[in-house]
Amino acid sequence: MLNKETDKNKFLNSFKSVSLIIVFIISIFIFSGCYYDSQEYMFPELGSGCDTTNVTFSGTLEPMLSSYCLSCHSNSTAASYGANIKLENYSDVLLRVNDGKLYGSIAQSGGFSPMPKNSTKLSDCKISSLKIWIDAGAPNN
Ligand code: HEC
Repeated sequence: MLNKETDKNKFLNSFKSVSLIIVFIISIFIFSGCYYDSQEYMFPELGSGCDTTNVTFSGTLEPMLSSYCLSCHSNSTAASYGANIKLENYSDVLLRVNDGKLYGSIAQSGGFSPMPKNSTKLSDCKISSLKIWIDAGAPNN
């Protein structure tokens, strides 16, 4: 009688642990559901915090050029510091998109002068944003 009771307890205890494991596995699947359509999964090289969903000239490119490039490539600085390459207006930027120099210099993949000159390479997120914009036809948006 006593033995039967302990056997029953043993059975109940192992049943409890198995259910706990099953619940745990199911929760992993439920939580990972949120992960799979996240940006990190679709663009793993960009890491979190890189928003490339709405890349525009005015919202993405202009602020980037202004922070990292216009000190040498604005309409007023280009002649003295930027080899006369202007990146302040859309039409001037488009010239450098079309000759491949804008992406080549920022991506620093060789064949072009690495930019920003004498400074650290732009983040992968910024370089990808530039590529996304160029691939979309470099719109003036
Ligand atoms: C400190 C000044 C300076 C800054 C900042 C700078 N540039 Fe330049 N850039 C130059 C100079 C000078 C040249 C001429 C080539 C050289 O000396 O390397 C040049 C050349 C270029 C060229 C032509 C490259 C080639 O291979 O013909 C492009 C395109 C360019 N810059 C884009 C940019 C962009 C985009 C940024 C910002 C991410 C930037 N530059 C930041 C000074 C600068």
